[in-house]
Amino acid sequence: MKNLIKALTEAYGPPGYEHAVREIIQTHIADVADSVEVDALGNLHAVKKGAGEGLTIMLAAHMDEIGLMVSYVSDKGFARFTALGGVFPDTLIGNRALFTNGAMGVINAENWPRHDKVDGSHKTLYLDFGAKSKDDMPVRVGDVAAFQRPFVDLGNVMVAKSLDDRIGCVILIETLKQLDQSPHDVHFVFTVQEEVGVRGATTAAYKVHPDVSIAVDVTDSGDVPERKNFEVNMGAGPAIKVMDRGMLAHPGLKNWMVETANAHNIPYQMEILTLGSTDAQAMQLAHEGSAAGALSIPCRHIHTPSEMVSIDDVENAIKLLLALLKSPAKL
Ligand code: CO
Ligand code: ZN
Repeated sequence: MKNLIKALTEAYGPPGYEHAVREIIQTHIADVADSVEVDALGNLHAVKKGAGEGLTIMLAAHMDEIGLMVSYVSDKGFARFTALGGVFPDTLIGNRALFTNGAMGVINAENWPRHDKVDGSHKTLYLDFGAKSKDDMPVRVGDVAAFQRPFVDLGNVMVAKSLDDRIGCVILIETLKQLDQSPHDVHFVFTVQEEVGVRGATTAAYKVHPDVSIAVDVTDSGDVPERKNFEVNMGAGPAIKVMDRGMLAHPGLKNWMVETANAHNIPYQMEILTLGSTDAQAMQLAHEGSAAGALSIPCRHIHTPSEMVSIDDVENAIKLLLALLKSPAKL
C-alpha cells in the first residue's frame, strides 16, 4: 500500500488537472470494478454492483491538490500568481512550484529576508525561474502548478504533499479491492476540483443519485505542541464526522458508523471541525438530498507540502468502510 501512496502523492494534480492521478487510479481499479467511467468534468466513477436489496451508496475521495496559477509575468522575468484552493502564504517561501510543462519555479516574497510576519496576501509573493526577461520565461499567464515534494516513509507515519486527499483515494482503492460482496450498489467516485469548492462531487452526485454518501478525506489533527482545541489525534483512529463548516452529518449514518466501529473493535474518534468541508457537503444536497457523512484521516500540517498521517488510521478506515458496506444500512 505504501508504494501506491508514494505514487499517488508524488503525482501531479492541481484542481482541473487531475489526469495523471486518474490514470494511476484507473490502472489499479480496472480489474476489480464492475464498471469504470470518466465524466465530462473528469470525475472517475467505479461501480461495484450489490447483491440486491441494498441502497445506492456513494463514496468520494478527491484527486486534486492545492496549487497555484500564474496571473502576471513581468518584463524582468518574474511571475505573480493566484491560489487554487486554500494555500497559506506562510507555507510558500522557499517552496517549489512544478508546472504542467515541467518548469519549476521557486517562490519568495519581495522584502526577503525580513523580521516581520509573512504578508497575509499573495501580493508580495513571486515565482522565480531564473529567467532574465519575459521572453526567457517558461510559463505564461494561466499556467498551473502544484507543489513539489517527495514522499517520505517514517514507519508508522508518512509525510508527503497531497495526502489531502490522495490518502482518501488509496482508502477507496483498497476498499474496492477487498470488498467481495455487499448488499448495496457501491459507487467509488474519485472527484475533481474539491479544493476550489467541491465542484466535481457536485455533478458526480447528480449522476449517482445516492441514498447514502460518505466522503473520505483528511481532517486536522489537534495533537501538536500548542495543543489545538480540537479533539482529533493522529494515530487514534479514523474520525467520524459530526459536523464541519459545510455540513451536519446525517445522525443515522453517523450512528451506523459508530455502532459498526464498536461492533468490530475498530478505534475511532468523533470530529467537529469549524473550518473547511468535504465532498459530503455537495453529495448531501444533490437531487432531493442524501444521508451524508464523512470518514476523516487525522492529518498534521494540513495544506502544507509536508502533510503527515498515520498508517494505522488508514488501515482502520479501510476496515470500518468494509464492515459498513458488508452490512445492511441502519439509518
Ligand atoms: Co484540502
Ligand atoms: Zn481534502
